[in-house]
Amino acid sequence: MDHRPQLSVKNGIADYIEWLSQYGASPEGGVTRLLYTKAWMDAQLAVKSEMSSLGFETSFDDVGNVYGKLSGSQSSADIIMTGSHIDTVVNGGKYDGAYGVLAGMLALKQLKDTYGTPKKTLEVVSLCEEEGSRFPLTYWGSGNVTGTFALGDAAEPSDGAGVSLQAAMLENGFGKGAYRPARRTDISAFIEIHIEQGLTLERSGADIGVVTSIAGQKRYLVTLEGECNHAGTTSMKWRKDPLVTSSRIIQELVMRAGRQPEELRLTCGKMNVEPNMPNVIPSRVQFSIDIRHQEQEVLKEFHDELVSVIRGISDEKGIRAVIDEYMSIEPVPMDQTLKAAALQTAAENRISCEEIVSGAGHDAQMIGRRFPACMLFVPSQGGISHSPREFTSAKQLDIGVRVLTDLLYKLAY
Ligand code: GLV
Ligand code: MN
Ligand code: MN
Repeated sequence: MDHRPQLSVKNGIADYIEWLSQYGASPEGGVTRLLYTKAWMDAQLAVKSEMSSLGFETSFDDVGNVYGKLSGSQSSADIIMTGSHIDTVVNGGKYDGAYGVLAGMLALKQLKDTYGTPKKTLEVVSLCEEEGSRFPLTYWGSGNVTGTFALGDAAEPSDGAGVSLQAAMLENGFGKGAYRPARRTDISAFIEIHIEQGLTLERSGADIGVVTSIAGQKRYLVTLEGECNHAGTTSMKWRKDPLVTSSRIIQELVMRAGRQPEELRLTCGKMNVEPNMPNVIPSRVQFSIDIRHQEQEVLKEFHDELVSVIRGISDEKGIRAVIDEYMSIEPVPMDQTLKAAALQTAAENRISCEEIVSGAGHDAQMIGRRFPACMLFVPSQGGISHSPREFTSAKQLDIGVRVLTDLLYKLAY
């Protein structure tokens, strides 16, 4: 495949987003780029090649993150980094993640063309994975950058087809030491720009959101095992039906989530039923639970409640329950100095701006636990995201690139 842009890219951010959305375009009009699939690899190679043609030094690391670098005239141990993730949910939008990668590329290009060599080295990164869409694991890209994950963590998680994260990584040429290790210790600022994925900016009319903190999340895989039997001959009284039990559990948890302060958000977005036949009482059900809140204490307390609800309802029905909490990330405040610089940059450009809490998870959350990080948001039309209907106007995307460019200028020149 030719990795050069196939559309006429006029260097405008909206064109760039259309260009990248060809990689993994779904028949339903969305984008599916799951970690270490062909669509994902083609997109990472295309981004790398485009970074080279913009004049950056490019490299992969050993998990498949792609970097474009503009070397500074001073020490190289003080990197100013921008970027986001290249992977998507299944049939997701064109903007989530992609905007942050492409906006970063345009910002660096503009800075290089206008001001030449920066004092501090600037890098733009296309992180390999943030969504947790293929494997039961999230932030594989930024988690390896911060050292939260190591290559060995790839051995266990498997996708729906039983392929391990490790096998998928090796198949793409990563995880073998062919590239430099992903772990970084040299980042002095990480700025991620992203679509808001909510309604706050659209409602207030502000063009830019400066994120104050990112909500914490926990994700669980719950397995319930009951008794497979005949749908016609087994009395309703004697069944051990894990699907009925799952639905009772989910209903109860959603009700309890609604009672938490400032609304704890709880989602069951994935379910596998075995054997998945109309005339068979299921033997086994597996479902995901995703919970989010901006206070760690609320998340911790809800965790205990969740475990006791699942155990209580399953025990009552004679169902065996296994609860795997496979992801937990605490709420992360953004760096105060970077946040102030972002607010100031918007004000200097007379761009309307407001401070905002992020309910969505982001790479800046993982990176912000180890290095100073901050985030800029642009509005999402109708607050829609993780959907082919995700949309932000070219004008609003441009405003974001302008603020990002100026902020990077302040930090690196
Ligand atoms: C990432 O998009 C998340 O918040 O789930
Ligand atoms: Mn997302
Ligand atoms: Mn995202």
